[in-house]
Amino acid sequence: MKTLFDETCIGTLQLRNRLVRSATWEAMADDAGRPTPRLVRVYRDLAYGGTGLIISSATTFSGDATRVPGMLAIPDDSYIQAYHELVQTVHREGAPIVMQLVFPGRNGVFWTPSDPSRDEIHSIARGFRDAAFRAQRAGFDGVEIHAAHGYFLSQFLNDKRNTRTDEYGGIVRNRIRFLLEITSEIQARTGETFPILVKINCSDFEEDDGVWEACQSACSKLAEQGIRAIEVSGGISHMPFPPQGLPYEESVFRDYAAEIARITDVPVILVGLNRTPSVLTGLLNTAGIGYFSLSRPFLRQPDLARYWRKNPDRPAECLSCDACREQPDGNVCPFRKSLVGEK
Ligand SMILES: Cc1cc2nc3c(=O)[nH]c(=O)nc-3n(C[C@H](O)[C@H](O)[C@H](O)COP(=O)(O)O)c2cc1C
Repeated sequence: MKTLFDETCIGTLQLRNRLVRSATWEAMADDAGRPTPRLVRVYRDLAYGGTGLIISSATTFSGDATRVPGMLAIPDDSYIQAYHELVQTVHREGAPIVMQLVFPGRNGVFWTPSDPSRDEIHSIARGFRDAAFRAQRAGFDGVEIHAAHGYFLSQFLNDKRNTRTDEYGGIVRNRIRFLLEITSEIQARTGETFPILVKINCSDFEEDDGVWEACQSACSKLAEQGIRAIEVSGGISHMPFPPQGLPYEESVFRDYAAEIARITDVPVILVGLNRTPSVLTGLLNTAGIGYFSLSRPFLRQPDLARYWRKNPDRPAECLSCDACREQPDGNVCPFRKSLVGEK
């Protein structure tokens, strides 16, 4: 029987367990988007707490005011040095770390698929490529492309939101084209062995959005391309979560993730209301889902992985109340307990 604490590999990533910190905007980068000492401590705690794999918060490379406050950025090579300490701190505590890359838009505006010209599409793909190469040189163990939650890339998959009439809109093959071009650009620059992960929506849970069809097709093609893992999420940011009508209260996208695991041979990471070790162990052994990522529970219990190793019968203490999204001084859980030895 497989357990949450099996030691496994995702490509070159060596994981001490199957618990992943899903990308979580901490709102603690400095005004230029560089990590602060406080942010480095957040990552240290997660690694010290036994997390199997850490995915950074969404990091922009567009280098303009599109950034949300305290968001990480890696717009040019001068930023590489700033990430060394963060990466080394995490590595010292035994965890690999992947940088999540996102393209929100330009000139302070959140873009939709109809905004970029064809040339701009190609320049955004090259932007992902160059940012991934910077992450690699900063010591990150891989990158994750953020194509979920209704942001720019995610909208390309949505039949209603993607209104393009060129080869990037319309039929499924066109709607997934941009994502596939981005990942192959990155592969060409960073090499075949540098792990690329993709976070993708199974559905936006809007009527006739066509996202599930596009998601399945994208995942099959990404698998053929040699993408190392797919993180299955769903819904649109700022809309009710979990989306209405799903059959489960925990691990809500489990049926979609199980289907992606069935149709591809790529490791699948399930995100969204993972809270109970026995539920996760069941999915691991019956649904082919190999990894489980969590966001809010790690804000409350950065040492949750270590805690679950000792207390496999206890659910996470996270109430999913979302108070962590509303803190004036960074996205922290108001109920978080200090770790032993923490100042
Ligand atoms: C404060 C906060 C910030 C988040 N930032 C990101 C992000 O930067 N990138 C991303 O892909 N998802 C982000 N998410 C979504 C989470 O990664 C995750 O998909 C979602 O919270 C569901 O998981 P959970 O139930 O374990 O919290 C964020 C969530 C929260 C609560």
